[in-house]
Amino acid sequence: MTYGVQHFCFGELSWVSSTILFMVLLGLFGSDMTDCKKRQSAAARARKQRSCTKMEDCLIEDQTTFYSKAEHYWKDVPPTVDGMLGGYGSISSIDINGSKKFLQKFLGEGQGKTGMGCSLDCGAGIGRITKRLLLPLFRTVDLVDVTQEFLDKARTYLGDEGKRVENYFCCGLQDFQPQPERYDVIWIQWVIGHLTDDHLVEFLRRCQSGLRPNGLIVVKDNVAFEGIIPDDVDSSVCRDLNLLHHLVAKAGLSIICEEQQQNFPEEIYQVHTLALR
Ligand SMILES: C[S@@+](CC[C@H](N)C(=O)[O-])C[C@H]1O[C@@H](n2cnc3c(N)ncnc32)[C@H](O)[C@@H]1O
Ligand SMILES: *[C@@H]1O[C@H](CO)[C@@H](O)[C@H](O)[C@H]1NC(C)=O
Repeated sequence: MTYGVQHFCFGELSWVSSTILFMVLLGLFGSDMTDCKKRQSAAARARKQRSCTKMEDCLIEDQTTFYSKAEHYWKDVPPTVDGMLGGYGSISSIDINGSKKFLQKFLGEGQGKTGMGCSLDCGAGIGRITKRLLLPLFRTVDLVDVTQEFLDKARTYLGDEGKRVENYFCCGLQDFQPQPERYDVIWIQWVIGHLTDDHLVEFLRRCQSGLRPNGLIVVKDNVAFEGIIPDDVDSSVCRDLNLLHHLVAKAGLSIICEEQQQNFPEEIYQVHTLALR
């Protein structure tokens, strides 16, 4: 009983003294507190935005700014494998080996098999995927990317085999129109986060009309555990699987096969590979 009262008194005293201390600090660092509050409400806003179901509602700025910020970001990135992978150049061969294993299931001669004539590398960058995955499997490859400097670099990076590249298209995917029925495989890796939901759906539709018979669209990208995670640095978003599936369906495509890439570092997003047609 005595102990209880003492404890209560102590608690009350401590509350009073901490309130005084707080008020003193508020007086001393008043402006900092306001700043901090501002930051807190920005964080709260971001949390709220994460629960939105459409990526467009997540954007802090307008769409034009979303795209131009990304373009500026990539212009300053060195044209190297490490640059393409945000410092994770070391996982490139794990990625390529996983992709090869995934893609080879569908390729070849015979009923329902996907041809090995021509492929398209979307958001190709310097051609990391073209060099190690697509050129070894397809007779010809086209590249499309919004960053001219990366496509310039690709011409030397791809080496002699690069002679089999037919087109280097410098274009945002939101504006790109694949030639109808040209491609056996359209590979879209680590770039869909740069498109708005509506643009992604429309782009996937145009890709479908760019496919030859038995052609395949492959999307390989980061997936969020839940919701939509914006990245203000490169001006992109990371979507969860639910939303990605919804957008694929909206584009009129079916998922033929889906796999999670294994053996990537623990700290990065999960990466999923989806075969669509
Ligand atoms: C993370 S890198 C991935 C490059 C390549 N797919 C790879 O895996 O090595 C993203 C690439 O997308 C390009 N990019 C960004 N926004 C784009 C857009 N709206 N349309 C086309 N390419 C875009 C960048 O220039 C960059 O080359
Ligand atoms: C990827 O495959 C190549 C060729 O089969 C092999 O030499 C290399 O060790 C593999 N890399 C990884 C990280 O598995």
